[in-house]
Amino acid sequence: MSSINIALDGPAAAGKSTIAKQVASRLTMIYVDTGAMYRAITYKYLQNGKPSNFDELIQSTELELTYDKEKGQRIILDGKDVTDYLRENDVTNHVSYVASKEPVRSFAVQIQKDLAAKKGIVMDGRDIGTVVLPNAELKVYMIASVEERAERRQKENELRGIESNLEQLKQEIEDRDNYDMNREISPLKKADDAITLDTTGKSIEVVTNEILSMVDHLK
Ligand code: C5P
Repeated sequence: MSSINIALDGPAAAGKSTIAKQVASRLTMIYVDTGAMYRAITYKYLQNGKPSNFDELIQSTELELTYDKEKGQRIILDGKDVTDYLRENDVTNHVSYVASKEPVRSFAVQIQKDLAAKKGIVMDGRDIGTVVLPNAELKVYMIASVEERAERRQKENELRGIESNLEQLKQEIEDRDNYDMNREISPLKKADDAITLDTTGKSIEVVTNEILSMVDHLK
């Protein structure tokens, strides 16, 4: 499906990236994880000792997305592959703050728009349907109960050998959503023309098939 773009938005840990990867692979499209871009800038912000001037931080930043056949999307920050550091707690706990800053958003959004210009992209994030790809052929707003989102995150952590507390995960997810929904620039919200998809209690396969069927209905 190289003739369409799909925008997938929703709150934290709603399964967006898992589903976006599946959909992209089934339709031979390219998956773009925009959260990873904000995480990479946050990684640099932390490495640089939390500077207050975001204009300067961004002016000295080069961000490139590459694709590895086995590992998928890789984020190259100032010439270095930082992908493996982007899920660290420190990054997760600061990313919403960094992503609320105007120089950060305009920098990332421009790269995202350029990537999608030729179509064939499944892009997930918070403002894809509202700001980055307002003309995307299909917009999906994915939600799930906070309990289930925390449980899914806990399982993911377990697989990575990280122990985590369910109540704490729930709180962190809620805090991040609140911050993302209430920021001034491009807050997380459903685009008027997006289809809401509640994934609570549904398997990856079921949700993937629901989106594939939405794509079928575009024809
Ligand atoms: O999707 P992920 O959890 O990796 O996103 C990390 C953070 O990046 C979000 O909580 C949000 O603050 C920010 N983000 C954003 N706009 C996007 C994607 C992510 O503001 N399009």
